[in-house]
Amino acid sequence: SKKAVLGPLVGAVDQGTSSTRFLVFNSKTAELLSHHQVEIKQEFPREGWVEQDPKEILHSVYECIEKTCEKLGQLNIDISNIKAIGVSNQRETTVVWDKLTGEPLYNAVVWLDLRTQSTVENLSKRIPGNNNFVKSKTGLPLSTYFSAVKLRWLLDNVRKVQKAVEEKRALFGTIDSWLIWSLTGGANGGVHCTDVTNASRTMLFNIHSLEWDKELCEFFGIPMEILPNVRSSSEIYGLMKAGALEGVPISGCLGDQSAALVGQMCFQDGQAKNTYGTGCFLLCNTGHKCVFSDHGLLTTVAYKLGRDKPVYYALEGSVAIAGAVIRWLRDNLGIIQSSEEIEKLAKEVGTSYGCYFVPAFSGLYAPYWEPSARGIICGLTQFTNKCHIAFAALEAVCFQTREILDAMNRDCGIPLSHLQVDGGMTSNKILMQLQADILYIPVVKPSMPETTALGAAMAAGAAEGVGVWSLEPEDLSAVTMERFEPQINAEESEIRYSTWKKAVMKSMGWVT
Ligand code: G3P
Repeated sequence: SKKAVLGPLVGAVDQGTSSTRFLVFNSKTAELLSHHQVEIKQEFPREGWVEQDPKEILHSVYECIEKTCEKLGQLNIDISNIKAIGVSNQRETTVVWDKLTGEPLYNAVVWLDLRTQSTVENLSKRIPGNNNFVKSKTGLPLSTYFSAVKLRWLLDNVRKVQKAVEEKRALFGTIDSWLIWSLTGGANGGVHCTDVTNASRTMLFNIHSLEWDKELCEFFGIPMEILPNVRSSSEIYGLMKAGALEGVPISGCLGDQSAALVGQMCFQDGQAKNTYGTGCFLLCNTGHKCVFSDHGLLTTVAYKLGRDKPVYYALEGSVAIAGAVIRWLRDNLGIIQSSEEIEKLAKEVGTSYGCYFVPAFSGLYAPYWEPSARGIICGLTQFTNKCHIAFAALEAVCFQTREILDAMNRDCGIPLSHLQVDGGMTSNKILMQLQADILYIPVVKPSMPETTALGAAMAAGAAEGVGVWSLEPEDLSAVTMERFEPQINAEESEIRYSTWKKAVMKSMGWVT
């Protein structure tokens, strides 16, 4: 049968903590044509440790590309129309591999991993000059969250890594670098690079000069020759070397939260989005200025869409556990069989009945940055059942977002009038309504929720030498939005929120 005629298409890899996806968009209309998703295993070899297999991640990308191409074939869409590929990825997760064999030298140490708690404590005693040394250069607090300390741990503890560094065979990268290197040929000429957004999450990158920082590398004891080249978020890095899309340029690269900011078209100073994935991340575009927070937020590179284009920064509120709490209820407690079931349970009761769940599984991130916190469920009575716990888990995601939004409003001075949201969890209507009730502002969600992938596709399609996607606003398709208005009164919302804060205080100081 005849193949459908379409304009140029752009593909996007969205490699998140919980799953990998490949999606293909029409560059003229931003319409999503087809996609495929594969869940990724997480290993917890010890309490607080979180690892993933870099090979599994790479294979999942190939699998998603192949399956999506097959689905496009079934729709009679010619895959030779795919002109570029963008990569967006879970940030900070750290991989070290051998450049001669292409083999990872250890599992990927995932951003949520807490093994570096004592490394962080020891380093914080040695900070040169004032306490601002790391934050003033990187925009980040010294925390287990970022790559530098994970890499330090690998250099201190894994013999294979030490040996490969000595023999000049080791390469370091976050997931974007690992994927781009592997997809562009690996040991046979793979391109070792990252983009400014991913680099800004390593704690080794100077966000003012946009270069690896020599002093920081010395402080963390990181050999600079293992670091990738830092490029803009939109330029041709290399070509796909294998698979159904062999020969297609990879020309977009953004950390997933930056990609979502782009995909939500938050290009103006003061525009913000909140993405509900494994964690939950609220980013507010601050234009060309680095704004430093007094309320526990991070300063991060938002995007740089081309080699000669200006850099944009963002203030970020990072919540470690959002969707991960649902996965925990499924995998660890078994009170749901599938993630979608949580909505049904929560709906049955419509309240947590005074039960509060603080999912501080990896300590607490913004605004507290408290590694000693651990998860608690409190306010239980004999009346409490699994539905109340499910409801409390959803409420926890919303309360955590409220804490971030409060901090953001204090730092920016102008309160957000509404919250733009995206990510897998936003298909949960109870969650969205609860979020509007707890923030007491409207929550607005685009009808096409895959904004992370869209942002990566936009960056790839707009790259010099590709030029199939225009980032001018008039060329972007009109996005339809769904709105959730607050339905409870402000007083009720405040009472619930202050009880949540009491629960948060109880979660702190569990580990010393
Ligand atoms: O910083 C971690 C973040 O990039 C992970 O995103 O979507 O996997 O929760 P996600």
